[in-house]
Amino acid sequence: MNKNEIILVGGGGHCKSCVDVIESEGKYQIKGIIDLPHLLGTNTLGYPIIGNDDDLPAFIEKGYSFLITMGHLGHATRRNQLFDSIASMGALMPSIISSSATVSNHSSIGNGTIIMHNALVNAGVKIAANCIINSGAIIEHDVCVEQHSHISTGAILNGDVHVRSESLIGSGATVKNGISIAKSSLIGMGAVVVKNIENSGTYIGNPARKI
Ligand SMILES: CC(C)(COP(=O)(O)OP(=O)(O)OC[C@H]1O[C@@H](n2cnc3c(N)ncnc32)[C@H](O)[C@@H]1OP(=O)(O)O)[C@@H](O)C(=O)NCCC(=O)NCCS
Repeated sequence: MNKNEIILVGGGGHCKSCVDVIESEGKYQIKGIIDLPHLLGTNTLGYPIIGNDDDLPAFIEKGYSFLITMGHLGHATRRNQLFDSIASMGALMPSIISSSATVSNHSSIGNGTIIMHNALVNAGVKIAANCIINSGAIIEHDVCVEQHSHISTGAILNGDVHVRSESLIGSGATVKNGISIAKSSLIGMGAVVVKNIENSGTYIGNPARKI
């Protein structure tokens, strides 16, 4: 086994975008995809479905790397469980960075986090494990994104923003500098967040309000 072979966990739409990022980075060969049992033998973008969740321990034993490629549209419980369970079995879960992303040397990116095409991660940023920084997102200086969060396509986190764990910042949302966002928050597409979000929930509009 080539230790640079990676197995993707979850074969939906987000997986397709991840495949493209992994191919562009060029560090890992995709061994195959873990998905539902009835999909065994089919493929996604030419990569085979090689098993289901029950097969994970055997693949981990063989020393493959893993990336969680199940999406996160607000309820990421399964995605988080899979990450924690695979990590606890000692598997390698590298960060993946698109060749078209700009990531500061003065930032840190956690295990299992993917930085997708044309995203910008600026100096002083800390992104924890198992996050998605989606295409075209802008993460400005000194932002902190806690684990299991998803910063969607084209969202903007201005300087010193703090996104607590398991949150979703929707496409095109903008968060004012210095704002803190509570754990498990769901910020809708296009929202403009100008005050701290103290309580988890769904927020939309300009200025963002809870619904
Ligand atoms: C905010 C959001 C979570 C609400 O989803 P939901 O709970 O299923 O709510 P609904 O679609 O039933 O919409 C409820 C109401 O809010 C409105 N609404 C939904 N999302 C909105 C948004 N982002 N901005 C403004 N209004 C919005 C709807 O028009 C609807 O209004 P109505 O009651 O007057 O008809 C969802 O619309 C959203 O923005 N998700 C993020 C998607 C995203 O960014 N994906 C990233 C892919 S990379």
